[in-house]
Amino acid sequence: MNDTLKLMHQHRSIRSFQDQTISAATLDAILDAAYKGPTSINGQQVSLVVTQDAARRAQIAEIAGGQPWIAQAPVFLTVVIDFYKTEQALAKAGKTQLIHESVEGFAVGAVDAGIALGNLMTAARSAGLGVVPIGGIRRHPQAIIDLLQLPAKTFPIAGLALGHIQHDSPLKPRLPRASFVHHEQYQSADLRQHIDAYDETLAQFWQSIGRDDGKIWSENTAQVYQSIYFPEVAPTAMAQGFKFSA
Ligand SMILES: Cc1cc2nc3c(=O)[nH]c(=O)nc-3n(C[C@H](O)[C@H](O)[C@H](O)COP(=O)(O)O)c2cc1C
Repeated sequence: MNDTLKLMHQHRSIRSFQDQTISAATLDAILDAAYKGPTSINGQQVSLVVTQDAARRAQIAEIAGGQPWIAQAPVFLTVVIDFYKTEQALAKAGKTQLIHESVEGFAVGAVDAGIALGNLMTAARSAGLGVVPIGGIRRHPQAIIDLLQLPAKTFPIAGLALGHIQHDSPLKPRLPRASFVHHEQYQSADLRQHIDAYDETLAQFWQSIGRDDGKIWSENTAQVYQSIYFPEVAPTAMAQGFKFSA
């Protein structure tokens, strides 16, 4: 197996970082891994905001609901859906942008942002660094918009904390692979058994690492998904000029 595959198969989120900066050359190489990634229609509707200032990182940690690893990591990257940039292109072409007023537009931006996030993670980990993606910035997106001075038609969709690893994390088991990889057609017949098996696997995993507070997958997912857990997303996105029409 090649080194890239080995690295990707060993993914785990890191939430403990050393008090050590990332060299400018390494950081630039990581940023370029996202910059050079693909985007839908080559629209390049993604931007990154790099936060290294300690006070700002502490503010982001609070906005994200009190996540100390954001303040601890030397670098925080915010991945931004960016239809402000494309709007300038349309203005130059004498047209009015409509895409950001549709679910399709938000889907396009979110997919491209996800690709950027994945590239950043793989690049950072290949440089020996630890990473944790952060969706918690959507808890109070307006506060992130204000802090980072994001213009209209942009939205901070996710972030990434990265730095030198202090304490490594164990590999978290996943649902059985057969519930993830479907050959030719979606296989729903055995899903309940897969969930039962995974609940057991995860209970054993939490026990093996001494986490009494660890929940089984069905309970944890239910706790989060029984409500819209970041309800400020839609109103904030609409205040930024997005709409969610057909
Ligand atoms: C888009 C996205 C957002 C996430 N947001 C957070 C977050 O706000 N805080 C956090 O500690 N972990 C966050 N995570 C990490 C997940 O909790 C983690 O990936 C998952 O539990 C699996 O564990 P692993 O990454 O160690 O394999 C996020 C992951 C993704 C992909």
